[in-house]
Amino acid sequence: MMEEMKNRFVAIKYNINGAPNECDFEIKSETICLSARSKEVIVKNLYVSVDPYQLNRMKAHSSSQAAISFATAITPGQGIDTYGVGRVVSSGRSDLAKDDLVVGLLTWGEYTLAEPGRLLNKLDPMDLPLPYYVGPLGFSGVTAYGGFYEVCKPKKGESVFVSAASGSVGSLVGQYAKLFGCHVVGCAGSQLKVDLLKEKLGFDDAFNYKDETDLKSALKRYFPEGIDIYFDNVGGKMLEAAVANMNTFGRVAVCGAISEYTGGGRKASPDMLDVVYKRITIQGFLAADYLKCYADFISTTAEHLRTGKMQGLSDISYGVESVPSAFVGLFRGDNIGKRIVQIADE
Ligand SMILES: NC(=O)c1ccc[n+]([C@@H]2O[C@H](COP(=O)([O-])OP(=O)(O)OC[C@H]3O[C@@H](n4cnc5c(N)ncnc54)[C@H](OP(=O)(O)O)[C@@H]3O)[C@@H](O)[C@H]2O)c1
Repeated sequence: MMEEMKNRFVAIKYNINGAPNECDFEIKSETICLSARSKEVIVKNLYVSVDPYQLNRMKAHSSSQAAISFATAITPGQGIDTYGVGRVVSSGRSDLAKDDLVVGLLTWGEYTLAEPGRLLNKLDPMDLPLPYYVGPLGFSGVTAYGGFYEVCKPKKGESVFVSAASGSVGSLVGQYAKLFGCHVVGCAGSQLKVDLLKEKLGFDDAFNYKDETDLKSALKRYFPEGIDIYFDNVGGKMLEAAVANMNTFGRVAVCGAISEYTGGGRKASPDMLDVVYKRITIQGFLAADYLKCYADFISTTAEHLRTGKMQGLSDISYGVESVPSAFVGLFRGDNIGKRIVQIADE
């Protein structure tokens, strides 16, 4: 007889169109067969990623949902896919065997039934902790690496501003920029985060944007000579303030706009005359655009993490029940570094 198991997973109860609350989610249970059919893989989830973009997938409508397969709409009541690390329970694929570690598209649940064609690769971890493969060596890392080197096109000595700088992507961008020889200032939402940026991550300076009443003059104070590169994680009025402080031929890498995801904040409306007369490049991008840099990214970043030149910040809660609170907290700035839920012991 085939072994069956209960799989508990997280679902949204209905579409979420504003700021998310824990009561918008439910933990559901289903019975799954632990024996994979041909080309399928059953994975026991170990570490799963919790990311801001999922909120745009939970809305009734968002332009992002039609852009790329991993951003498609989430259906209320159904499982939610996410990046993560797991262990193979049963494999119908010749390249994967029981007990192999895998990295790829898992679910916010205890198990993933990976249908044929789903992104799922064998993971041969180096001497680095498994959560790093969800954060600095996962999608956050590719986003920071591709966004900084390919979109920002940095030059040594340039001035770089990073928002949400203590978050998963921002903390890595700031560290890449320092290692590259740039002058780096970050902003974050608490004094604790500001101290961490300056004392642990080597940022030249940092400030708490919530203490500033006028963001344009705050940026003028931190960048008296202007900003050459703005790595934008938040959008809204911070983007407007950064554009007002950009230098001629400055570059803005638009990674995300978290302040606009919940619908309550102001949508960015940068001064387009600044853009024209200062010849500023504003470029949106997706991590998926930079998978071509993957080999370089992994070897460089793993080496920096191993030698202590870069710090990987993981913010981990335990158990599938903690996914909703971990997710909701992203929009309150509860996290420091990559938000991950550990679903089961390694
Ligand atoms: N383009 C891509 O392929 C790609 C890939 C990954 C992520 N992203 C985007 O990159 C950004 C960062 O993602 P992440 O995974 O690294 O998340 P994260 O920065 O680790 O976590 C989100 C952080 O955003 C800040 N935040 C929340 N609400 C805010 C608001 N209203 N105004 C200003 N800051 C706010 C909070 O920090 P504070 O305490 O500083 O407020 C929070 O800790 C997001 O916009 C995300 O959508 C894009």
